[in-house]
Amino acid sequence: MTELARSSDSAAAQYAAARPGYPPLLFDAVEVMADRAFEGAHVIDVGAGTGIATGLMRDRGAHVLAVEPGPGMAAQLRTAHPDIRLVQGDGDALPVASGCADFVTYAQAWHWTEPTRSIPEALRVLKPRGVLALWWNALDPAAAWAAEQETRLRERLPDYYQYGAAPKAPVIIKTLYDGLTPAFRRLQWSREVTIDAHLAHLTTRSQLAVSDREKAAPVLAEERAVLLRIFPDGVVREQYVINLTAVRKPAR
Ligand SMILES: C[S@@+](CC[C@H](N)C(=O)[O-])C[C@H]1O[C@@H](n2cnc3c(N)ncnc32)[C@H](O)[C@@H]1O
Repeated sequence: MTELARSSDSAAAQYAAARPGYPPLLFDAVEVMADRAFEGAHVIDVGAGTGIATGLMRDRGAHVLAVEPGPGMAAQLRTAHPDIRLVQGDGDALPVASGCADFVTYAQAWHWTEPTRSIPEALRVLKPRGVLALWWNALDPAAAWAAEQETRLRERLPDYYQYGAAPKAPVIIKTLYDGLTPAFRRLQWSREVTIDAHLAHLTTRSQLAVSDREKAAPVLAEERAVLLRIFPDGVVREQYVINLTAVRKPAR
């Protein structure tokens, strides 16, 4: 686990409360790409965090094992989902037997791994024809106000970023492992939330979560003022884009 990942682990309770979750259309798309349902499937959800994606796949009837390196995130997951099996570990060295999984999933977590280790590890634990699915959910910069917010955050918090690795995942995989054929889908969805909920979500993004509060507070105050001008009723219409990559383990 990197130092940055360790620091954001300390904001796990805030993360559990403020993250937007994932829409059913994401899991529908994974099932189509994998050509099999989650129902009855054995899933290893790596970088499970507080269990947001883990719980949704369990609700679809999957047998899910959560793998999470961060003690803060793991504690939140245990509280939210006491019925889900959880092991401490990371994607570069999965504490799991070989050939046991129909799916290995990473919900906004694969960017923390070292691909030359995490891809072979995923292939090791997958059954033949099992599927590795990686996704990232982020505000869609096609909405002008979201793109402008992103620019402001980048300017004011130099270490701020928003999942830059997401669309590059298929290229990274293909470059490293020519025998694999990653498929990519870009999915869109939206939700309406209060300005407070929107700002709470922003504060869970890694760099904001670990920035010192003195630095982040005026930035968030300015964002609140801007949002109130754009959404005077106090309801933010957030549009999201999910970058989803799925790659099948060869049959032999
Ligand atoms: C942005 S959170 C995503 C959590 C959850 N999957 C979700 O969708 O809300 C990233 C997670 O990756 C975990 N992580 C950090 N380094 C990791 C690694 N090397 N392998 C696997 N997970 C890692 C963090 O502890 C954190 O829980």
